[in-house]
Amino acid sequence: MQFKILPIKENRKLNSRYFVLKVPDKSISAQSQPGQFCEIKDLESDEPLLPRPFSIYKVEENTISFLIKIVGETTRNLSQKKTAEMISILGPLGNGFKIPKNKSVLLISGGIGYAPFPFLKNKLQKNGNEIQWLHGGKDKYDIFSYDITNYTEDGSIGKKGLVTDDMPFILGKNDIHTVFACGPNQMLKKVSEICEFYKVELQVSMETIMACGMGVCCGCIIKYAENGEVIYKKACKDGPVFDGRKVVWDE
Ligand SMILES: Cc1cc2nc3c(=O)[nH]c(=O)nc-3n(C[C@H](O)[C@H](O)[C@H](O)COP(=O)(O)OP(=O)(O)OC[C@H]3O[C@@H](n4cnc5c(N)ncnc54)[C@H](O)[C@@H]3O)c2cc1C
Ligand code: FES
Repeated sequence: MQFKILPIKENRKLNSRYFVLKVPDKSISAQSQPGQFCEIKDLESDEPLLPRPFSIYKVEENTISFLIKIVGETTRNLSQKKTAEMISILGPLGNGFKIPKNKSVLLISGGIGYAPFPFLKNKLQKNGNEIQWLHGGKDKYDIFSYDITNYTEDGSIGKKGLVTDDMPFILGKNDIHTVFACGPNQMLKKVSEICEFYKVELQVSMETIMACGMGVCCGCIIKYAENGEVIYKKACKDGPVFDGRKVVWDE
C-alpha cells in the first residue's frame, strides 16, 4: 500500500453519470490485484475531509484507472478535474478476488458494480477461464460495453429486466465453478440466494459506505455467518471481496 500525489493523465466523460479517471503510476499498478480499491482525495477541496474508495478499473502500461459515478461532492469535483491536476491516492487496499484456473465463471454486475470487472476479466482470461458476463442497469446510461449481455430495467438497451433474471437458467445448464458479483446489495442478495440454491461458489465485492478505509473506524461493518455464528467483518480490511454465501443480507 502506498500514498501518492499524482497528476491526472486523462479524465474522460462517458455520459452525464460516469467518467473514467486515469493516473500514471508504476508501483501502485504493479501491486494491484482485481477487486482491490484505492482511496482518492481531491486536493483542492477540504470538503469532504476524508478520501473516497474506488475500485481499480483497469491497469495498463503503468497507468491505473477508475470508473466513477457522480453521486456527491467528491465524485462531482473529480469529474471536473483537468489533465495534470493533482489528486492523492492511497492504495492498493483490500483483499481482491481469488482467481480460479481453467474453469467456467459467471460475472454479474449492476450499475457502478461494473467497475472492478474489466481488470478481473483480464486476470481470469490469463488463467484460462471461460467467462460469461451479465450486466444490468436502470437504463442505457448504465451500460458500458456491447460485448457482454446487458439488461436494462426500462429496456432501452439489451434485454428488458434484471441482471439476475437468466441466472437460474445459466447455472442450471452450465457447469459454473464461481460467480463473481458486484452491485447494489439487493442484487447481491438475490445472486447469493441463486448461488446457494445451485451450490455454486460466490465472490462478492461489497461497495459499503466507508470512512477511514484502513480498518480503524469500524465504519464499514458487515455481518457474516461463520461456523454457525454471526460475526462482524470490516469491508475495507477483511474485504471488500467476501464469500457471498456467508454474508448476512439484511432486509
Ligand atoms: C470498496 C469500494 C469500491 C467502490 N468502487 C467504486 C467505483 O469503482 N466507482 C464508483 O463510482 N464508486 C465506487 N464506490 C462508491 C464510492 O466510494 C462512493 O460513491 C463515493 O464515496 C461517494 O463520494 P461522494 O463524496 O461523491 O458522495 P457522498 O456525498 O459521500 O455521498 C453521496 C450519496 O451517495 C451515498 N453513498 C456514498 N457512498 C456510497 C456507497 N458506497 N454505496 C452506496 N451509496 C453511497 C451517500 O449515502 C449519499 O447519499 C466504491 C465503494 C467501496 C466501498
Ligand atoms: S472504513 Fe474505517 S474500518 Fe473500514
